[in-house]
Amino acid sequence: MKVLIYKTAEEVKAQAARRLLMSVQRTPQSVLGLATGGTMEDVYAELVKQTHRHAASWAQVTTFNLDEYWGIPIDSPASYRTYMNHHLFNHINVDLDATHIPPSEGENPDLAAAQYEARISGAGGIDLQLLGIGVNGHIGFNEPTSSLASKTRLKTLTQSTRDANRRFFDTMEQVPRYALTVGIGTIMASEECLLVATGSSKAPAVQAMIEGPLAASCPASALQMHQKVTVMLDEDAARDLELRSYYQLVHPDGQESAVSDG
Ligand code: GLP
Repeated sequence: MKVLIYKTAEEVKAQAARRLLMSVQRTPQSVLGLATGGTMEDVYAELVKQTHRHAASWAQVTTFNLDEYWGIPIDSPASYRTYMNHHLFNHINVDLDATHIPPSEGENPDLAAAQYEARISGAGGIDLQLLGIGVNGHIGFNEPTSSLASKTRLKTLTQSTRDANRRFFDTMEQVPRYALTVGIGTIMASEECLLVATGSSKAPAVQAMIEGPLAASCPASALQMHQKVTVMLDEDAARDLELRSYYQLVHPDGQESAVSDG
């Protein structure tokens, strides 16, 4: 795992956007796995800026989002489809038909999940998977005790996740209880992962993910078994890391080193 620690959240977000744009520029037909949440709002704002600055084209890019709330209309202001259109897709030349987000409603969530998984495989799998992390260590909406081999499916959200996402809704009652999320096994099948975390509220989850035991109690710890993961952190999110000075020795100021230490 490559752990890059930057002084500020702004630097983290600019570097994450740079890394995503690099993928698009190097491989115009990239298949990107995308994430949502407060952290990604600034990553996408920066990505839009950098896209325009470098006149980069997203015309051939395909995207798959990690998750979507279940039980709200897809055009609801709080849906992840609305979020993605608002923060990214409406500002770049991506083909909207090539942007995939799990459905938010339907008769048969199991079938919808299987179809989403098949669509990802049909596109040749994810080249670069962008990830955030929940304060409880979730990735996507894979809550603690999720199977580390799971595929796309309906998950019940924990109270901690519903509380954390309460700010995107008018009332607590409106916060969905379920989400359709790609599985940890789906994430593990991606070629490469880029996880971004900022702020001290994420410090315990980040420590458990990087240095804790591999355990379903911290779903993000599954990434210890992935062969190509970069974690970008600000100083606050890196606060609890026991080997922090080692990561800083290998990558001073978050710089990539010549050594390809996975
Ligand atoms: C939601 C998303 C996750 C995201 C997490 C963190 O729960 N499903 O994919 O990583 O939020 O969000 P934030 O950046 O707002 O802390």
